[in-house]
Amino acid sequence: MIALKSAREIEILRRANVIVAEILQELKSRVAPGVTTLELDELAEELTYKKKAQPAFKGYTMAGRVYPRTLCVSINDEIVHGIPSDRVLREGDIVGLDFGVIYEGYYGDSAVTVGVGKVSEEALRLTRVTEEALCKGIEQLHEGKRLGDLAWAIQSRVEGAGFSVVRAFVGHGIGRKLHEEPPVPNYGEPDRGLRLREGMVLAIEPMVNAGGYEVAIKEDGWTAVTRDGSLSAHFEHSVAITKNGPDILSRV
Ligand code: MF3
Ligand code: CO
Repeated sequence: MIALKSAREIEILRRANVIVAEILQELKSRVAPGVTTLELDELAEELTYKKKAQPAFKGYTMAGRVYPRTLCVSINDEIVHGIPSDRVLREGDIVGLDFGVIYEGYYGDSAVTVGVGKVSEEALRLTRVTEEALCKGIEQLHEGKRLGDLAWAIQSRVEGAGFSVVRAFVGHGIGRKLHEEPPVPNYGEPDRGLRLREGMVLAIEPMVNAGGYEVAIKEDGWTAVTRDGSLSAHFEHSVAITKNGPDILSRV
């Protein structure tokens, strides 16, 4: 069942997602060579409580495993779900920061990928194309369009640039739960799949690999990496579908 949200619920979801966006902005400004991923996690947690919200990921159970931290930090060939540790960021890395909160019973969820200092041309292009693909997808979020239209907008942008769309992970509905129906794949065919309706709120999150789309999971049971060791980027926005089209909730 897909829970359609009222205007009132969308405003609470906006508050949750604005908190996420504000904290992500602060985290982005702290990304620099020498910083550990655990430092970013601790800052994220502190800012979450300061804003009267709760971490959405810490303690979250997926496939029987409990996620131990507030933030996901995924570096270079890591696609998503990297666990913060004493690992140090280095000049030239690209870093995915994926973050969520619960506020007044509703979830916020958003992600960005940023470079540490100066990064390679390839890394810069991958990051730009992934963010552009997210925007292309969001542009499709009008009543009457279908999930396949969104998926194809993302996939065609990515593959047109010579990169690949990860299949093993998808976006999702969001509301009183972090992961609600429907699943939102980033690959598909135009004019197929679920028809979009006013009141749907979707977390759109393309994960894009510079090489092949295949993934592997590290021994920690969480960190997803590219199977071929190529770079990967991830951007995510939580977006409400309104009469007038997409309303990006996770932005300041
Ligand atoms: N944005 C990610 C997602 O939607 C974050 C989930 S991480 C987890 O899947 F730890 F909460 F699982
Ligand atoms: Co998400």
